[in-house]
Amino acid sequence: MALRNIVKIGDDVLRKVCRTQLTFDDKLKQTLDDMAETMYKADGVGLAAPQIGILRRFCIVDVGDGLLELINPVIIEKSGSQKGNEGCLSIPNRYEEVVRPMTVTVKAQDRDGNNITVTAEGLKARAICHETDHLNGILFTDRI
Ligand code: NI
Repeated sequence: MALRNIVKIGDDVLRKVCRTQLTFDDKLKQTLDDMAETMYKADGVGLAAPQIGILRRFCIVDVGDGLLELINPVIIEKSGSQKGNEGCLSIPNRYEEVVRPMTVTVKAQDRDGNNITVTAEGLKARAICHETDHLNGILFTDRI
């Protein structure tokens, strides 16, 4: 595994709409492993591919209950709402209140290309919304 450089705000790469990840090969697995190492080292609870300069639709989340890898995630259900502080590894030292759904259900693929469906609430739902936003070039500061 290797640490990757986290792209910071101001870099255009954070504003692009990412493309579908079509291959589930060793390169993807290596990238996901690197992303996890990078996220944990930075004390983050999520990281999206564009944040390490890769314009593909995948991200990871870990709010303390284990690593979740989401390839081509699509949020298919949202309910309720929560207001809370949010930050981003690409926007150092900035924390703002953002309203997000309380519960989300996301459909995605795992690292082997298997279809998965995950329902999450609270902080995990927030993190999933934040990371899937990254795949569409949206930053949390756009949602204040
Ligand atoms: Ni972020």
